[in-house]
Amino acid sequence: MNIAVFASGRGSNFSAIIRAVKKGKIKASLSLLVCDNPGAGAITKAKRAGIKVALVKSKECSDKKDFEAMIAAHLENEKIELIALAGFMRILSPEFVRKYSGRILNIHPALLPSFKGAEGIKDAFGYGVKVTGVTVHFVDEAMDHGPIILQQAVKIEAGDNLVSLEKKIHKIEHRLYPKAIRLFVEGRLKIEGRGVKISNP
Ligand code: GRF
Repeated sequence: MNIAVFASGRGSNFSAIIRAVKKGKIKASLSLLVCDNPGAGAITKAKRAGIKVALVKSKECSDKKDFEAMIAAHLENEKIELIALAGFMRILSPEFVRKYSGRILNIHPALLPSFKGAEGIKDAFGYGVKVTGVTVHFVDEAMDHGPIILQQAVKIEAGDNLVSLEKKIHKIEHRLYPKAIRLFVEGRLKIEGRGVKISNP
């Protein structure tokens, strides 16, 4: 199975997936990084790991349809069967999501459906919740909404600040995302209504 990771930034989740593939924990080929930001750390990480990069800049596309058509062409060239969004800062259109329905995963740094959006960690911390966490889910047409695959809770303790909470969250992300991808690759995930059934967990 060929996997593409979509990332716009630092790429620490991308690195965690690279490591899991290299170690043979995920038995698939990490074939492509799709990135919309030429300055993204993820690009350096891809180059270091010998992974192809499709840099698609929205500014150079006439509109969103054109932007997504360029991405889709790269996916077809590489025969991509699974897309893992890892900090990709663009919302995919319903048409794109439908085209790859059931084959797009996302990681979100909070316990969905709480604290959707780009600032999940900051928003949870600012709200004062005592427990937040990480969610990996299938992507559907609504933002941070599709069927949930895995979640792990993180306690916010008295001594925590935003920086320490971010560290805790990322540490869990780097375990949870490769695990969810492994389950997908092994054919162990089945979407049933709003939920996801995991066989032989
Ligand atoms: C992660 O916190 C992820 O949950 C969110 O975007 C962030 C990406 O971080 N969707 P990185 O680029 O993988 O370090």
